[in-house]
Amino acid sequence: MSTQLTVVVLAAGQGTRMKSNLPKVLHTIGARPMLARVIDSAQSLNPQAIHVVYGHGGEQVKERLQDLPVSWVLQSQQLGTGHAVNQAMAAIADSQIVLVLYGDVPLITPSTLARLVDAAKDNRLGLLTAELDEPTGYGRIVRDSTGNVRSIVEQKDASPEQLAIAEINTGMLAVNAGQLRGWLDNIDNGNLQGEYYLTDVIALAVESGVEINAISTPDLAEIEGVNNRLQLANLERVFQQRQANRLMLEGVTLRDPGRFDLRGKLKVGRDVEIDIGVLIEGEVELGDRCYIGPNCILKDVVLGNDVRVEANSILESSTIGTQCLIGPFARLRPECELADDVKVGNFVEVKKSTVGKGSKINHLTYVGDTRMGANVNVGAGSITCNYDSANKHLTVIGNDVFIGSDSQLIAPVTIGDGATIGAGSTITRDAPAGELTLSRSEQKTLKGWKRPVKIKR
Ligand code: UD1
Ligand code: MG
Repeated sequence: MSTQLTVVVLAAGQGTRMKSNLPKVLHTIGARPMLARVIDSAQSLNPQAIHVVYGHGGEQVKERLQDLPVSWVLQSQQLGTGHAVNQAMAAIADSQIVLVLYGDVPLITPSTLARLVDAAKDNRLGLLTAELDEPTGYGRIVRDSTGNVRSIVEQKDASPEQLAIAEINTGMLAVNAGQLRGWLDNIDNGNLQGEYYLTDVIALAVESGVEINAISTPDLAEIEGVNNRLQLANLERVFQQRQANRLMLEGVTLRDPGRFDLRGKLKVGRDVEIDIGVLIEGEVELGDRCYIGPNCILKDVVLGNDVRVEANSILESSTIGTQCLIGPFARLRPECELADDVKVGNFVEVKKSTVGKGSKINHLTYVGDTRMGANVNVGAGSITCNYDSANKHLTVIGNDVFIGSDSQLIAPVTIGDGATIGAGSTITRDAPAGELTLSRSEQKTLKGWKRPVKIKR
């Protein structure tokens, strides 16, 4: 833990342009609230504390992120960024370095933050700036003739010459807490917006002989804020591309990194291949040589080695053994456990069931609340009728069972080892091991029967 560092994250702004009932910082990037992403990055520096300044809709923000190791500071009126930081200062000792971040600038990286904190060393003020082709809206960095930073001027307060400056303030800075406290107590709101500007601290720092150490980052996405849903979508793409790049460098083949989405954590073995349009959610693990076909969704699943998931399959909260073949168009609902060498084919839904080694459920079938042994073959169109309109019941299928096509197993029911169920059966009582059981009306032929013919008028 860095006993020197305290982080203040500003998150009290309203975010009107999101046109949302959800506070802006709860909108997500990669399925994680923007504010949580900023806190994650800050956390990587092991600070002594992280203070989040919240305001509008704040209760909702606090509730949603209550598991994060931060302290919450209320700014009941949004009187400006300087006022916002000042709300947190009471809890921060003079000896600390304060790092100021924005809750709506989600893609800032740990490495840039570490550089910014470093930039504040030796009694300097570390300031993160950027050169933009289109600086409109941002505070401009004013330097003197020798190139030293003198002050920041906000867009609305800037002269035409100052508006021509391309170097902008990202808002992120790091500086000694004792000094910051003094400067914050001396800023006023005598500007065009009537706000207490954090940026006014820069000129005060220069006055007190503190050097402004401006650093920048080549990746502009790191410093981009989200004000509307267009910017949110742009940063989502940047974030997804970053993750895709990392995975490819880790040895995953992504057939098209532009059509891959990871909203969570993905752990991979060697030589994994992921085809186009795949969505990974929650925590997913793929063993060596797994193949995930086009347009699959995998959420909270663990796949063993050499599993193939063919196109358009949806797998959730399940565990799959090695060398299984899933899909195309298969659905594994939560709590499935497939042993090795299992096949689950097209238009098959499996829910809360275990399937033993080598068993095959190849076509058009529903298996729910079932314990199935090894080497079972379930014929096309079979259904475990697990629900009696009030309760769910268990179906137990032994090893080496053959279920003929279009059978219904009415649970609770047990099919013994080696049993065969004749096609088209409705099984309401247990079927003994090793025997053929079927329920089917007998077939008959009416000899000489003639089809009706159309009456001519
Ligand atoms: C601010 C900077 C500007 C910089 C720009 C970068 C100031 C005065 N200006 O301008 O130099 O170029 O960010 O995006 O600092 N917030 C609060 N409480 C408040 C006001 C703001 O928590 O009372 C939070 C907002 O939620 C937001 C951040 O502070 O996360 C920045 O506020 P915003 O109103 O966007 O400042 P800008 O005018 O964009
Ligand atoms: Mg802004």
